[in-house]
Amino acid sequence: SRYEIAVLVGSLRRESFNGKLAIALTRLAPKEFECNLLEIGDLPLYNQDDDADQPAPAKRLKAEIKRSHGVLFVTPEYNRSIPGVLKNAIDHASRPYGHNAFAGKPAGVIGASIGSIGTACAQQHLRDILAYLDMPTLGQPEAFIHVTDNLFDADGNIGAVSRKFLQGWIDKYVAWVQKHAA
Ligand code: FNR
Repeated sequence: SRYEIAVLVGSLRRESFNGKLAIALTRLAPKEFECNLLEIGDLPLYNQDDDADQPAPAKRLKAEIKRSHGVLFVTPEYNRSIPGVLKNAIDHASRPYGHNAFAGKPAGVIGASIGSIGTACAQQHLRDILAYLDMPTLGQPEAFIHVTDNLFDADGNIGAVSRKFLQGWIDKYVAWVQKHAA
């Protein structure tokens, strides 16, 4: 069968390493997995006053997440946590109360940083949030990606040094999604 994966990237930067990682990583997924990078840059700041009639970009995001079989988070670390743009997107899609689009969706968490701890703190914070949102989240293997010159090859694919590790990671996430869809 076919699976749709919603991919949320925690950086709006044009040349984002995490954006590039999301693209290269999803190329390693099997063909029956359709991975869609979702737009979060057009979401207004979350305001609970709008819960009764959510802004159009929030409605769109929620529909995209609801119809997906899993959600893959690819995020940088900002000040030892997740970027505000990602938290804003999560807040939108989790509301109004009782209408959390994320509930039950199998999640994967990964991130890349130019710092040597490779988004470990951000990922740990994100795992707390995903637990509250009732998302079964792949625990192992963890992937803290340190951005180096050879992370990507000339075509934007994962370079030779990290290829085996990241292929193993996506294979585990794919199996996690299949297990929860069954
Ligand atoms: C950072 N960066 C960063 N890196 C890190 O490893 N730990 C951190 O706490 C932070 N904090 C932080 C805060 C802010 C506001 C910025 C802009 C940056 C550096 C970060 O890893 C680097 O900018 C990455 O390139 C961001 O990811 P993208 O945009 O390339 O995906």
